[in-house]
Amino acid sequence: MQESGHIFLARMGKTKLRPGGIDATNWLLDKANIKPDSKILEVACNMGMTMIQIAKTYGCHVIGIDLDETALDKARKKIRKNHLEDKLSVRNGNAFDLPFADASFDIVINEAMLTMLVGKDKDRALTEYARVLKPGGILLTHDVLLQEDSPKAQQELLSGLSRAINAHVEPLTLEGWKEKIESHAFRTEQNYGKMTLLDPIGMLHDEGLDGTLKIMTNAIKKENRQMFSEMFDFFNEHATQLGYVANYSIKL
Ligand SMILES: C[S@@+](CC[C@H](N)C(=O)[O-])C[C@H]1O[C@@H](n2cnc3c(N)ncnc32)[C@H](O)[C@@H]1O
Repeated sequence: MQESGHIFLARMGKTKLRPGGIDATNWLLDKANIKPDSKILEVACNMGMTMIQIAKTYGCHVIGIDLDETALDKARKKIRKNHLEDKLSVRNGNAFDLPFADASFDIVINEAMLTMLVGKDKDRALTEYARVLKPGGILLTHDVLLQEDSPKAQQELLSGLSRAINAHVEPLTLEGWKEKIESHAFRTEQNYGKMTLLDPIGMLHDEGLDGTLKIMTNAIKKENRQMFSEMFDFFNEHATQLGYVANYSIKL
């Protein structure tokens, strides 16, 4: 069976698996007023890139959870390599059933995961984020933005996107994301822009020259070429219809 897009891109060497890359992440982190004693949970930490950035920048502790044991093993190695074992830990866990008490975190960060949830599953995850956040806590999310108003065009775009990344996904419009998050008793401020995930300039910015060369070297191998070019072409052909959105939300 063909692997889903984010697993494929991670295998190519991509380390930022989110639509707006590091600039969108930094917008969220800059707003969150993170302190060395902030209690932070990262849901869908994957290989730990964002939590490592947070610990290095703000000196605080972060717990990461993800469903993907292979990605968590990479995270454990990167945490050790960066000598951050005293600040960072990861464990297998599901956003729908967070293994933490009510009101136990100041900040929950969740990048490029809600887009992957369809139907009521976004609400299941958001209910959990609201539960584990303290009153006044901050939810930082970063997702794919649907910039298309016509329902017919939206449907075609979503089918094409799900095919290109080999996963059933459901990005929302700017208003759609705001309404969805605010329906869980948050007040949301948004930033949005062009998707950088597979854009050549965005890739250079997010992965550096060496990282981009490594990704391209893997991508042109015979066994990877077709999937990479399908994803690359799809995102570039639909660059005006698909962007990123960063949602900074305060729990009311
Ligand atoms: C596109 S990747 C994003 C990874 C990382 N946050 C980043 O921005 O680079 C999506 C991640 O969500 C994780 N994931 C999907 N559903 C999940 C769930 N219900 N609970 C926890 N993690 C989940 C996947 O295993 C994967 O690591």
